[in-house]
Amino acid sequence: MRKLFLPDFNNSTHPESTVQPQAPARRRHPRVVVITSGKGGVGKTTTTANVGLSLAHLGLSVVTVDADVGLRNLDLLLGLENRVNYTLVEVLNGDCRLDQALVRDKRWSNFELLCISKPRSKLPIGFGGKALVWLVESLKDRQEGCPDFILIDCPAGIDAGFITAITPANEAVLVTTPDITSLRDADRVTGLLECDGIRDIKMIVNRVRTDMIKGEDMMSVLDVQEMLGLALLGVIPEDSEVIRSTNRGYPLVLNKPPTLAGLAFEQAAWRLVEQDSMQAVMMEEEPKNRGWFSFFGG
Ligand SMILES: Nc1ncnc2c1ncn2[C@@H]1O[C@H](COP(=O)(O)OP(=O)(O)OP(=O)(O)O)[C@@H](O)[C@H]1O
Ligand SMILES: [Mg+2]
Repeated sequence: MRKLFLPDFNNSTHPESTVQPQAPARRRHPRVVVITSGKGGVGKTTTTANVGLSLAHLGLSVVTVDADVGLRNLDLLLGLENRVNYTLVEVLNGDCRLDQALVRDKRWSNFELLCISKPRSKLPIGFGGKALVWLVESLKDRQEGCPDFILIDCPAGIDAGFITAITPANEAVLVTTPDITSLRDADRVTGLLECDGIRDIKMIVNRVRTDMIKGEDMMSVLDVQEMLGLALLGVIPEDSEVIRSTNRGYPLVLNKPPTLAGLAFEQAAWRLVEQDSMQAVMMEEEPKNRGWFSFFGG
């Protein structure tokens, strides 16, 4: 009997899908969460957009910050690129007010986007983590009330842009794909986050393909969890709808009916609110009966 660790993406009857978390009373301190990875292209921006909108859908107020300097694309994924007139750099230069740089989503008024800088531009000398700390403090004190969540979409790599993005955060969501290069970078980033005092780190395993896990061509989620030793916030399947939604500027979680990846992002958002995590549960495969079952814990 062979032991398998497979995600069940068809399990839409998970208790989490029927229970809605309660929106907390107005906060005085936002939860500041950096979405990071180390390796580029593993799904940080996709996660920020979809988890952010899912949180807004749950009634929470969310500010997403695109901290990818020069190569920003969160505005594109959200379909808000034409509405970005000002960035944080201009706010700090005194060219505009903070509320002018915050772009309200077309669909959810409790969801806002702030870009750090204009595309292909460089940050002014002296711009760093302190600018984002100032931003968080300003958002806390603004008239509309303190947001429940500030999600920071981190640039790839571990250089100055990474340090700037993690500085104001007190929590991190580490996005990884189940391959060795992504895992090695994720492990390195985990060490750096801990060094910076960020102890609340959860991971999202993205682009998981059960067919490849079955064929033992891809690491299982349990393998990933054992290698990184982090709490699991979500498992997102490889889904061509993600690419389609990226190109349309219409995030996946807005799709009706939702796709499997959309549901997985919604569940990850729910766990983020509840400060919960999921567990890989081992199931076993009968050699003759090649029915593949699943894991997904509570
Ligand atoms: N679950 C998924 N299934 C299919 N495609 C995906 C999935 N997640 C992300 N992608 C695709 O992978 C590409 C990279 O995603 P994304 O831009 O979110 O990564 P990133 O980590 O933000 O990249 P960068 O490091 O460049 O900022 C995009 O084309 C996106 O559509
Ligand atoms: Mg990105």
